[in-house]
Amino acid sequence: MSGFPSIFHASDDRYIGDEDVPIIFGEKIATPKEYAEATQAIGTLLKGHFSCRYYLPKPVEKSVIQDIISAARHSPSGNNMQPWAKVYCIAGDIKEKIAAATVKAHKENPEAYDAQYQYYPTGPIPKLYADRRGEYGKRFFAPFKIDRSDSNARNEITLRNFNFFSAPVAFFFTIDQALTKGSWLDVGYFLQSIVLAARARGLETISQEATAKYQLIMRQHLPIPDNEVVMVGMCMGYPDLDKIRQFYAKQPRRPVGDIIEFFGM
Ligand SMILES: Cc1cc2nc3c(=O)[nH]c(=O)nc-3n(C[C@H](O)[C@H](O)[C@H](O)COP(=O)(O)O)c2cc1C
Repeated sequence: MSGFPSIFHASDDRYIGDEDVPIIFGEKIATPKEYAEATQAIGTLLKGHFSCRYYLPKPVEKSVIQDIISAARHSPSGNNMQPWAKVYCIAGDIKEKIAAATVKAHKENPEAYDAQYQYYPTGPIPKLYADRRGEYGKRFFAPFKIDRSDSNARNEITLRNFNFFSAPVAFFFTIDQALTKGSWLDVGYFLQSIVLAARARGLETISQEATAKYQLIMRQHLPIPDNEVVMVGMCMGYPDLDKIRQFYAKQPRRPVGDIIEFFGM
């Protein structure tokens, strides 16, 4: 189902086992042209990333989601613990029910809910990050042309989180509460793999820490065991490009030279 060609040849002994998983023993398995195509494709997928907040009302096939998870599960993890406990995938009636309950809770009684961890520090954060966060907010709200002091208008926009941005599919990711930061790091690899595997199929996503706050509502509708922490949500679907063009706010990235420092090379 992938719209993204594999660079690997599926017919020789570099493939072991009954899965389409290439096992590479340090040899070059693609031609220079194939590497060039792969470099371009992965660059496009990575650099074209944006958080998608508008979706077409077009369903996503279950088999496509299975394909995406099938690719993403090859993400690395410390000691291969694969600590992504479960991906709860919702669509249709159950998604609408959870959305309605979450929107209601967010409007009427948000103090009654809490995520099971602090995504952001509760105290002050270093100025560098506070400034970036402020810049994000400015850019995000600018296309809506609302007054920055109009908290009602801002809330209405934020509220779309709890409606899953009208995406046809939403996910919740959990992790065992006994696991620690290293395993949370592992899940980050897994999440980004899903984002890329989705893009390669013409699908877009948005990650959502906002929905973790309403984990009690999810637990009312989904069989999430007590030992699982709801880490983060994600919406997925085919992008509504007309709306995206209207409200798109490119979030800038730090220059390479600011991120990496070389030693000995
Ligand atoms: C783990 C994670 C959680 C996020 N949670 C939310 C969220 O709850 N609501 C939202 O609108 N965006 C959320 N975002 C999207 C970020 O705001 C976005 O990635 C960032 O501003 C960069 O913009 P871009 O993804 O469009 O390039 C989240 C992103 C990540 C990685």
